[in-house]
Amino acid sequence: MTKKINIAILISGTGSNMQALVDACLSPNFPACVAVVIANKPTSLGLAWAKENGIATVLIDQQKFALQENPKLAFEQELQNVLQNFAVELICLAGFMRLLSGCFVAKWPQKIINIHPSLLPNFKGANAVFDALQAKATITGCTTHFVVEEMDAGPIILQQKVPIDQADNLESLKAKILQQEHQIYPKTLKIVCNQILAKIK
Ligand code: GRF
Repeated sequence: MTKKINIAILISGTGSNMQALVDACLSPNFPACVAVVIANKPTSLGLAWAKENGIATVLIDQQKFALQENPKLAFEQELQNVLQNFAVELICLAGFMRLLSGCFVAKWPQKIINIHPSLLPNFKGANAVFDALQAKATITGCTTHFVVEEMDAGPIILQQKVPIDQADNLESLKAKILQQEHQIYPKTLKIVCNQILAKIK
């Protein structure tokens, strides 16, 4: 059997991008397989969906570490353990609303990818769609990129433009962008996994 890259998908919320990645991995000859879905919030709808669909899931509830001396470090140590236990080779952030430390990112060089709802470097941060509307931009989109310590800043892999209509509101624009995200994230995963596979051949 041809080697596939074992991926972890990290989520916090709905997980529609996670579903797009899971679907892609089900198609024959796709170079990745989903080893585990990890959520940092018990309320994540995507976590329930993954469980129902027979995917291995782990909840690392970030609240659990709140009283520890270094909550971020403790969270990331547990994350690292889970990733190792599932023999993960590539991490896909899919609506994972937590910034990973430089120390963690350094352990996974070029092995963490993310999707962001803007044409980076425009509109970084958690309110990218709102910010594009506020700025009266006429075009926005989505970007996949490698993750570095600085937020929404790593090397760009793919981008897709989405025009903003005058009639667009936050909800309509988010939906239009999400539709494109579901196209470019699986494509990105394929590109990155094929690059990794080419290096280990
Ligand atoms: C997406 O817009 C993604 O770009 C951003 O968070 C949102 C997650 O949506 N990072 P979903 O949970 O994948 O539906």
